[in-house]
Amino acid sequence: MPVRETACIDGRMMPLADAALPMADQGVVRGDGAFETVGVWSGRPFRLGAHLERLNASLRSALLPEADPAALAGRVADVLEHALDDETIDAMIRLYVTASGTQIVLVSGQPDRPPHRRLDPVVAPWIRPRGTYVLSGAKTMSYMPNMVTSRVVQRDGADDALLLSSEGWVLEGPTFGVVWMADGVLHAPGVELGIVDSISRRTVIALAESKGIEVRTGAWPLDVILQADEVMTSSAVRPLQALQAIGDQNLPEDTPVARLLAAALAEERHSAV
Ligand SMILES: Cc1ncc(COP(=O)(O)O)c(C=O)c1O
Repeated sequence: MPVRETACIDGRMMPLADAALPMADQGVVRGDGAFETVGVWSGRPFRLGAHLERLNASLRSALLPEADPAALAGRVADVLEHALDDETIDAMIRLYVTASGTQIVLVSGQPDRPPHRRLDPVVAPWIRPRGTYVLSGAKTMSYMPNMVTSRVVQRDGADDALLLSSEGWVLEGPTFGVVWMADGVLHAPGVELGIVDSISRRTVIALAESKGIEVRTGAWPLDVILQADEVMTSSAVRPLQALQAIGDQNLPEDTPVARLLAAALAEERHSAV
């Protein structure tokens, strides 16, 4: 039985296909609000608490009222119970809180997307270091800069973009985090650069450390990642994947650390309670 796609708007549950927002909602007319995407693996949301914390962090930075995490978690549980018959199902939850105070929970299937093979580097001037811009690291409903950047590089044949700061630091993807192996060390751009504090990346870092792999966070320019032994992407609804190329630079084909960490992440997602 596939996912019964369901929406819950301010506590009212309905089929996702019937869900609608008033045109005057500030989420619609201004993209004013915050969101989260949460993976559901074997029927259970993975790290829901961390996603609810990050949702409230986004709302706080946007100077909007926070949501009650316990109440929102209760709605998520209700919608999941309605949407999933089978405990083996993988799915996706989308949470939105708009500036009009509307709270939305959507449950649907996970997107069926090809793996990331090639990312093209693009400067992302809207991502600014923490402390220099009020929305640094926030997941706002105004994601158009990220989405158009994906479309621009996809028009040129890439799978997606590798975002760089105006200063040239490697940041993240438009909807995913990026880490890489070099000299036996897992490198992860620091959240102080203004990137989203990726929850899948946090899990990957913890798994790497548990396997004795040293992890370093910081700021590195593009030429460093181009020399990496393995470059990996992840998000809440994507497995950890190894890239094949960045722009026209091919990366090494053998990716043992990506294989190890991808298996560990999948295992953790499917076994978490
Ligand atoms: C810009 C950006 N970076 C990174 C991520 C990955 O975060 P997570 O692992 O929590 O899904 C996302 C996810 O949506 C994102 O939008």
